[in-house]
This record gives sequence, C-alpha cells and structure tokens, in this order.
Amino acid sequence: MKPELISLQARGDSRGSLVAIEDHKNVPFDIKRVYYVYGTKEGVSRGFHAHRELRQMVIPLSGSCDFLLDDGETVVTVALKDPTVGLMVEKMVWHEMHNFSNDCILLVLASAHYDEADYIRDYDEFKKLIGAKL
Ligand code: TYD
Repeated sequence: MKPELISLQARGDSRGSLVAIEDHKNVPFDIKRVYYVYGTKEGVSRGFHAHRELRQMVIPLSGSCDFLLDDGETVVTVALKDPTVGLMVEKMVWHEMHNFSNDCILLVLASAHYDEADYIRDYDEFKKLIGAKL
C-alpha cells in the first residue's frame, strides 16, 4: 500500500510557525474528535488495531515515531517527524506505532466519536475480515 501523506501549509514568519487545519480543506472528513498521544515511555509500542469505519489523520506535533500501516496485502512503515505532514489512516488498515522519541506528541484527528465497537484488536480477525474483502 502507498501511504497517503497530506502536506499542511506552515505559515511561518519571524515569530515562528503556525499550521491551520480545517475539515474538507486539508482533512478529507468531518473532524468529530481530536486526541493526542504524548509521554510514551521508552521502548513502548502502541496501536495494534484497525478500525471498521473510522478515518484518521495523524500529525507529529513534536518528536518522531515510526508508524506501521498494514492493509492486509502489504506493510509499510512511515517515519513521522514533520509537523507539516499528516498521515492518513483509513478504515480497515492495521496500524502500529514504534520507536517513539521522548518528546513525541502525536495529534490525531478522527472522523467519529470514540467507539470501542469500531476497533478490531485481534490481528487474525483483521486478516479474516480483510481477506473477505480482497
Ligand atoms: P488505545 O486506542 O488503546 O490507544 P493506542 O491505540 O494509541 O495504543 O486507547 C487507550 C485508552 O484510551 C483505551 O482505554 C481507550 C481510551 N480512549 C478513549 O477513551 N477515547 C479515545 O478517543 C481514544 C483514542 C482512546
């Protein structure tokens, strides 16, 4: 699979930088929820799930991590480190986050409110469901 990376325009001047995000301008869905992941302990990995319907965009506001995407056919890892680039995580894509830097802050924009029923947390179940679709 080819990861979809969306460039976010930084409005920089002598004072520093600012990025503005508006749904349907630089995010291709209604933003229903925003959350952030920070303070991840050294050596810890996160994620290990896919979503049945949720679409998300992940932006590394500071620091870096490696973001693995698996659509059931191919696996790619994207090094997230640029706060002006958002990574799309579409529905039915297994994802994992590894190698967090100490200062890593991931901002996540999501297309729906939190719903545990939307999660697929078992990789074999994900493979079975995606297999039915491929
Ligand atoms: P989880 O999705 O397991 O985190 P990650 O995929 O980054 O490893 O979420 C961690 C906990 O936070 C879990 O108990 C669910 C809860 N949570 C919410 O209550 N609301 C949310 O919007 C999210 C993303 C998680």
